[in-house]
Amino acid sequence: MEPIIRVENLSKVFDAKSGRVDAVRNINFEIAKGDIFGIIGLSGAGKSTLVRCLNLLERPTSGNVYIKGKNLMDMSGKELRKTRRNIGMIFQNFNLLMQRNVLDNVCFPLEIAGVKRKEAKERAMELLKKVGLGDKAASYPAQLSGGQKQRVAIARVLANNPEILLCDEATSALDPQTTKSILNLLKSINEEYGITIVVITHEMRVVKNICSHVAVLNHGKLAEKGTVKEVFTNPKSSAAKVLILNDEEQDKFSGEVYEGNVG
Ligand SMILES: Nc1ncnc2c1ncn2[C@@H]1O[C@H](COP(=O)(O)OP(=O)(O)OP(=O)(O)O)[C@@H](O)[C@H]1O
Ligand SMILES: [Mg+2]
Repeated sequence: MEPIIRVENLSKVFDAKSGRVDAVRNINFEIAKGDIFGIIGLSGAGKSTLVRCLNLLERPTSGNVYIKGKNLMDMSGKELRKTRRNIGMIFQNFNLLMQRNVLDNVCFPLEIAGVKRKEAKERAMELLKKVGLGDKAASYPAQLSGGQKQRVAIARVLANNPEILLCDEATSALDPQTTKSILNLLKSINEEYGITIVVITHEMRVVKNICSHVAVLNHGKLAEKGTVKEVFTNPKSSAAKVLILNDEEQDKFSGEVYEGNVG
């Protein structure tokens, strides 16, 4: 079956004042529909840049991104906007609208899509119940915990019925227990709606918890990819080995090891 996402020879170079940065270097991978696909790597490895390239929020310097077989690089502005509506995104800092209450945050994408107020409110309420926040509709983001804010963000992203959900460090601001509950929610969304989820993280345990497949990024390159089981039981790249060790002995390890012969 055709992969829902396919990345081909993808590169992104930034020409910053401080010099050239090769953030993503000639990456190839594919993601099957319904997968929960992890992209893991240390800070600066290029994870956010790569994920932003998946919906062309960041225009790749070279290479191609295929969504359901169609190359985003060839699309007109109109086609691209349409495709993007099918790709939701959630972030570490939740990006909620602080002046709107919870219900109206979830209504927002529906308003933009031209859904009538009454219908939008009903759908938003349904989604809030789905994420376990049926009783918080009238609250404002400032009155919520981090985990609750992320649940609102998830309800809001689901309003558009996306087939793909990109999560950039969606749990990195949360404590371990709240992280677990958000990961469980993502897993249930994946199972119930069949949404393909791409999870960007620097934490191995996030990958272990919910991902079926994983790609390891190291200095912009794809060091390794495979099923989570393969990569965890038999890591081949030093980048993957270090991440696993980091996970096991988090504070004993220093960055030095990582700088060595990685690849
Ligand atoms: N707009 C930009 N201009 C110049 N350089 C950039 C830009 N965005 C990212 N970079 C650089 O590209 C590299 C990869 O950054 P990126 O944010 O993708 O890493 P990351 O893996 O997401 O890191 P983190 O785990 O800290 O979020 C870094 O060296 C970063 O400084
Ligand atoms: Mg990042």
